[in-house]
Amino acid sequence: MKRVYLDYAATTPLHPEVKQEMMEALDGTYGNPSSIHSFGRESRKLLDDARSIAARSIGADFSSIIFTSGATEANNLAIFGVARAYAHRGKHIITTQIEHHAVLHPMEELQKEGFEVTFLPVDESGIVSVEAVEEALRPDTIFVSIMRVNNETGMRQPIEAIGERLKEHQAIFHTDAVQAYGLEKLDVTSFNVDLLSVSSHKIYGPKGIGFLYRNDDVHLAQQIFGGEQERKWRSGTENMLGIRGFTKAIELLEKEQNERLMHYEKLSKQFFKGLNDFSIDYHLNGTREEHMPNILNISFPGVEVEMFLTNLDLEGIAVSSGSACTAGSIDPSHVLKAMYGEENDRLYNSIRFSFGIETSDEDIQFCVEKISKILNRLIPSNTRG
Ligand SMILES: Cc1ncc(COP(=O)(O)O)c(C=O)c1O
Repeated sequence: MKRVYLDYAATTPLHPEVKQEMMEALDGTYGNPSSIHSFGRESRKLLDDARSIAARSIGADFSSIIFTSGATEANNLAIFGVARAYAHRGKHIITTQIEHHAVLHPMEELQKEGFEVTFLPVDESGIVSVEAVEEALRPDTIFVSIMRVNNETGMRQPIEAIGERLKEHQAIFHTDAVQAYGLEKLDVTSFNVDLLSVSSHKIYGPKGIGFLYRNDDVHLAQQIFGGEQERKWRSGTENMLGIRGFTKAIELLEKEQNERLMHYEKLSKQFFKGLNDFSIDYHLNGTREEHMPNILNISFPGVEVEMFLTNLDLEGIAVSSGSACTAGSIDPSHVLKAMYGEENDRLYNSIRFSFGIETSDEDIQFCVEKISKILNRLIPSNTRG
């Protein structure tokens, strides 16, 4: 049976060249990069090269990269690290209602520790306004964390403008750039961010590796105690196999980014055209303007999302009803809730389609045809044709 994977925002497969690199790494040097003998030094050299490549990819300095087990850990390190290091300056934190759970849940933990967290709302297009951030800022605000691209809707947030506004404020600025990293050239200077998280498995690298960018001026309270690795910002022997694969994925990304973006733009246009050609009734959750073309979050009026997902799966199409972390539970998406309110039908009839480098025109055609077929079966009134 033909299977089409359209859930790249949840995770991407390994790029063949990444896989090749990791196979070679398995046979190669195994020294501990903290050891001073020649085996250790060989690994240290690979680790240094990886750090340079990671830093270059976001316009940062070598010493600003902290390798972590992924973006969840990077976000946790940023959030708890800043809160506990700067609590003497204030206990107020700002974030948004549409962050990934890897930001929201640490924030909820901080609330239990006595921090006051403002969760900013977004408008119907899923964007937080710079004015809202400005209004929420207080003299005792120590931290602002706002994602660059939302993982459920693909909507881009105005990080540059918020960063500009925060320049004159004591608050440390973090962005979760996981979903943006593969799609746009990130530059920590133009973003004016102090901290930035990314993950390897969204850019065709292995799972379980990512990094946190840390501006030299920012102090983080240590979260994992042990050895002196990562200059003590993150103790524990580095995941060298993961780092090797991640580095290769970053190099490929730098080479292919524009090409990938154009590919996604073409696919998303084709997707919309297909829905229109089949006269399918739908709404994009978000807007076409500030939208990353690899994630389409679409509401199909009248459909029941669990039933729709099951039918798509039976036809071989893998998509998601929200972020992968909440899939499997019928809790409506917190992101759509923030955009449309508790009662809106879109909370119960929306699907996220996300494209990747292997997605072909045929895959899109196949998917649109199946959507039309399933909708005709489930709710004959959905299609106008
Ligand atoms: C926006 C965002 N932040 C954080 C994460 C967590 O990343 P990781 O799986 O590397 O822990 C994800 C992954 O789904 C994400 O999409």
